[in-house]
Amino acid sequence: MAKINKNYSKLKPSYLFREIANRTKAFLEKNPEALVLRLGIGDTTEPLAPSIIKGLKTEVEKLANKKTYTGYGDEHGDIRLRSALKDWYKKRGISLDVSEIFISDGAKPDTSNISSIFAPDTVIAVQNPVYPVYVDSNIISGRDNFVFMPCIANKNFIPDLPEKKADLIFLCSPNNPTGVVMNKKQLKKFVDYAIKNKSIIVFDNAYAAFIQDDDLPRSIYEINGAEKCAIEIGSFSKSAGFTGVRLGWTTIPEEIEIEDGGMGALNKLWSRRKATMFNGPSNIAQEGGIAALSPEGLRESAKIIAYYMENAKIIKEGLEKIGLEVFGGVHAPYIWVKTPKGISSWEFFDKVLQETQVVGTPGEGFGKYGEGYFRLSAFGNRENIQRAVKSIQKNLKI
Ligand SMILES: Cc1ncc(COP(=O)(O)O)c(C=O)c1O
Repeated sequence: MAKINKNYSKLKPSYLFREIANRTKAFLEKNPEALVLRLGIGDTTEPLAPSIIKGLKTEVEKLANKKTYTGYGDEHGDIRLRSALKDWYKKRGISLDVSEIFISDGAKPDTSNISSIFAPDTVIAVQNPVYPVYVDSNIISGRDNFVFMPCIANKNFIPDLPEKKADLIFLCSPNNPTGVVMNKKQLKKFVDYAIKNKSIIVFDNAYAAFIQDDDLPRSIYEINGAEKCAIEIGSFSKSAGFTGVRLGWTTIPEEIEIEDGGMGALNKLWSRRKATMFNGPSNIAQEGGIAALSPEGLRESAKIIAYYMENAKIIKEGLEKIGLEVFGGVHAPYIWVKTPKGISSWEFFDKVLQETQVVGTPGEGFGKYGEGYFRLSAFGNRENIQRAVKSIQKNLKI
């Protein structure tokens, strides 16, 4: 008799964004005339940079021609893209070999799948509030050994080291949802902890391109010792607008040593997993990725990122003007708003929707320590963002 995976019943019944969609739909059914302004989901809205479009088209054209057609590629990714990423790291003083870089169809699948190369009883540390994928993917695979690292206002939303010994530590910086970024000193504490405790860090740097200050780390390998204890997961989604195109990567340095496998074991296991369960990313997406990492692609995408960061500034300053307490939004496209008068984040969600027609994301959806906060996304077109801020300023009763 086939049986279902009962671990799914341990997940929260409704995924955050579905609940938001349901409440927004109910509001629109009652108020069909309302123009809802969506600042909830962190999805890109601006067209891709011209040089990236050119790259994507080049591959499409190749597929149209018998002589240039290609089918399955390297399941670890096109060597040209891995080399381009190697160069990207090199510019930041990081030395990685192409064999340590694995191209994927995005950071979400990689952050979900990475735990599969670790033992079932692995103790997992995650920030709280947290990008829900790190927790849910581990629950689905049967793990319940979590250590939560609270990210609270009086510590600038930067986590302390895990209170209980953790084997695998997920860190996300710049952070979704709080919008704050860890500096080198703060990250170094985690690297030292990992080396001392033989733990491994999984560093999600999906928002690295939004960092405005060159002294802040865009990669964990900017920290001494990280090459011995850290896996990094990156994405083209937010840096190049690939949320729909789908492309990301994972780096696993050979130097990482794991107690029962030795040096290089994690790289080999991930390589094996990829060869078994993945047939490589789309060749079209990869050609786009190569274009995105070219000097022209980086320059053009930087303009789009600057546009989103100007949106973030408009939201941040606009909300501060009416006395709301606001965090993030300087090195990340997320603004983390403290709900006024201690109301719950779902109450605030409903209030903002009813009074201003703006949709945000209740902080509680990212974990217990997100309660009392509300996330606004700076992705979106300028007009929408300005309208949303004006509506909040004019209509929100606080
Ligand atoms: C922290 C974080 N990691 C990963 C992702 C997903 O990235 P991708 O689109 O590459 O799967 C997101 C998307 O919102 C995110 O916020």
